[in-house]
Amino acid sequence: MRDYNEYLQIVKDAISNLRLPAQPSGLYDPIRYALNCGGKRLRPVLTLAACEAMGKDPKSAIHQAIAIEMFHNFTLLHDDVMDKADVRRGRPTVHVKWNEETAILSGDAMLTTAGMLLAVKCGDHLPQALELFNGTAMNIYEGQQYDMDFEKRTDVTVDEYMEMIRLKTSVLLGCSCGMGALMADAPFETQVRFFDYGVNLGLAFQLQDDYLDTYGNPETFGKAIGGDILNDKKTWLLIMAMNEDKSGKIRSLLGPATDPDEKIKAVRSIYDELDLPQRAHELISAYIDTAIKCLDHMELSPEARSFFMDIALKSATRDK
Ligand code: IPE
Ligand code: IPE
Ligand code: MG
Ligand code: MG
Ligand code: MG
Repeated sequence: MRDYNEYLQIVKDAISNLRLPAQPSGLYDPIRYALNCGGKRLRPVLTLAACEAMGKDPKSAIHQAIAIEMFHNFTLLHDDVMDKADVRRGRPTVHVKWNEETAILSGDAMLTTAGMLLAVKCGDHLPQALELFNGTAMNIYEGQQYDMDFEKRTDVTVDEYMEMIRLKTSVLLGCSCGMGALMADAPFETQVRFFDYGVNLGLAFQLQDDYLDTYGNPETFGKAIGGDILNDKKTWLLIMAMNEDKSGKIRSLLGPATDPDEKIKAVRSIYDELDLPQRAHELISAYIDTAIKCLDHMELSPEARSFFMDIALKSATRDK
């Protein structure tokens, strides 16, 4: 096994070797902008590492890894329009730097490019890779729809929230791991176990994302703080507050804000009173534990096991 930075370097090299056309620049420049301005690149790293953990050269999954990263970045272009988010990775989002039309169309081109990359050097695995990739994509759209539907609802349960984040976020981490195992010819049961590890990691990952959206440092996190609160996103924090805030104040804060900073402050202070940041981290730890338990049911070298355990533990306390 290599370390995270070594896989990251393989991913970066492959991204810089992508030969995107120069023209029309209005279509391709935003794609270059999105792909070249960083991000943790967790998903393609998981794909390469899963492939190597199953005994193959990680580069045999590089095209599929880049396909997943391209797809992830496509979802972000559209997500930022849907969430009215102006900043990502410390820079203006594509719909702010260009416009919404550009975010839609460059996003479409990224989705198709992802599909094309997935097929490169995929060999006999193509039908299964397509099934995994397309099934995951449909789940993400379903999750994103629930995420938007929930903004308007005030009766969302924790179970509904968990299912929504499983769909919008977790399955892509599951797919990233499963894809690496598939490309390494691992048995189907092992692919499924890797997928389950990724899903549990993904649940913890999105819970932490929601925590950072309220409590993160915007410089480090790279996104504006409080966007979820301003959009009335039914995060675990907000659902718990709505269940437990006896004064009813939290419900009176929902809806368009006359003073956005005041709304964020008021909601956050209710979260603090209910000790929700601490309790969110207990839940995050539980999903991290479940992810780590999935590793026990797989035949992994000690190095591979500790690589995936490390990623899980770091995700629980990440600040970006
Ligand atoms: C952002 O994903 C979208 C979520 C699922 C929370 P990441 O936090 O992996 O974003 P980048 O790619 O590292 O910027
Ligand atoms: C992201 O959820 C899920 C997808 C992009 C599919 P968020 O909306 O919380 O992600 P960020 O916080 O904008 O990265
Ligand atoms: Mg968003
Ligand atoms: Mg969103
Ligand atoms: Mg978020």
